[in-house]
Amino acid sequence: MDRIRIVGGNALNGIIPISGAKNAALPLMIASLLTSDTLTLENVPHLADVEGLIRILGNHGVDIAVNGRREHQDGSYSRTVHFTCRTVADTTAPYELVSKMRASFWVIGPLLAREGQARVSLPGGCAIGTRPVDLFIEGLTALGAEMEIDGGYINAKAPKGGLIGARYTFPKVSVGATHVMLMAASLARGTTVIGNAAREPEVVDLANCLNAMGAKISGAGTSTITIEGVTSLSGARHRVLPDRIETGTYAMAVAMTGGDVTLSGTDITLLDTAIEAIRRAGAEVSAVEGGIRVIGHGDQIRPVDIVTEPFPGFPTDLQAQFMGLMTRANGVSHVTETIFENRFMHVQELARLGAKITLSGQTARIEGVTRLRGAPVMATDLRASVSLVIAGLAAEGETMVSRVYHLDRGFERLEEKLTRCGAIVERITD
Ligand code: EPZ
Repeated sequence: MDRIRIVGGNALNGIIPISGAKNAALPLMIASLLTSDTLTLENVPHLADVEGLIRILGNHGVDIAVNGRREHQDGSYSRTVHFTCRTVADTTAPYELVSKMRASFWVIGPLLAREGQARVSLPGGCAIGTRPVDLFIEGLTALGAEMEIDGGYINAKAPKGGLIGARYTFPKVSVGATHVMLMAASLARGTTVIGNAAREPEVVDLANCLNAMGAKISGAGTSTITIEGVTSLSGARHRVLPDRIETGTYAMAVAMTGGDVTLSGTDITLLDTAIEAIRRAGAEVSAVEGGIRVIGHGDQIRPVDIVTEPFPGFPTDLQAQFMGLMTRANGVSHVTETIFENRFMHVQELARLGAKITLSGQTARIEGVTRLRGAPVMATDLRASVSLVIAGLAAEGETMVSRVYHLDRGFERLEEKLTRCGAIVERITD
């Protein structure tokens, strides 16, 4: 199993190209099940989760052609992938596949809309929380589907003639359930109005792509989304939006190590709340042409309290990284997690580097320390593991991160991007 070795202490200086967003690419890829034409996605990141979903979609009958990567001067790659699902080969998404990646459960939306039926394994819990699927069941039921749980699977069936547009208000904001409703309602008969919809940029990206495919969606990015159903969707060409979580992660790394880095190919407006928190912590962050410039001052980090919330609030996917930054603040800060009940597994690993963190319910109290010291640590989930990497970059001495397959799920060429900016980071393959 691969490990990552970091020798901390170097400031980061240079350019880090930001990849296409994993959490936009996944639903966009799944949208290819809605049409028999080709959906072409540009800026698709090369990540374990994307490759995993490629295999899953192949099982449903999607032909996939990947156009080689092109390297640009700033070290960025661009990957274009063509998805064609002439006919759906299988409407079942089996446990072996869905259990590996929760987002693959989302195929339930397009399969139901296009084929009138789907049998999809329940995804089960995961390291960050129980993550139920009640909102998907309620939402699709509102569109007329019969939803039945049987042997660990959801059997979904559309009424004769297809799904029927309806008004449905989510009792709780869910990114995944909003994606599924957008895809399902696009091919329903009549108009659907979704209340309390997720407002994440990835939802807007999916809506834009579906509209390019011929859907009639308005209001994406607000809490109320209206979808006028159409009888069929066509192919389209769409560019995956930049990864705001990768952007925020590297910005926090620079705030922690000090240095001057331009994050290229990204957009500051995708993460206003996180940028505000990074600025309050003392780093200078500004929009520059084609990206964001971050100047960090290392030792002068100010304590900042944050609470995770659905977009436009502070993203849960940046909570662990921000906690990493706060471990070196000049004072006490608090980080409160409101989205997932068990997303604090990085706390004990950060403590191995010398961080002083105490947990009380969903709030962590972080007492900043003047220095962290490298240590062996273990990655537990995707975002937790990258918080250990950025803390390792700011620690004295060597940090060895094991179980890095978690990182490979969501961070493209992490070692290379950091090394180009002066960090000492290497992958050790045993
Ligand atoms: C998406 O997960 C992201 N994943 C997550 O990123 C992210 O943390 C999360 O949104 C919140 O921003 C992808 O986009 C692939 P939710 P999703 O449904 O859609 C509860 C990462 O590290 N809920 O918005 O699965 C749920 O338990 C990942 O890249 C229900 O109660 O998240 C949670 O408490 C991790 N019932 C809350 O809603 C349901 O039926 C928000 O979850 C569905 C969700």
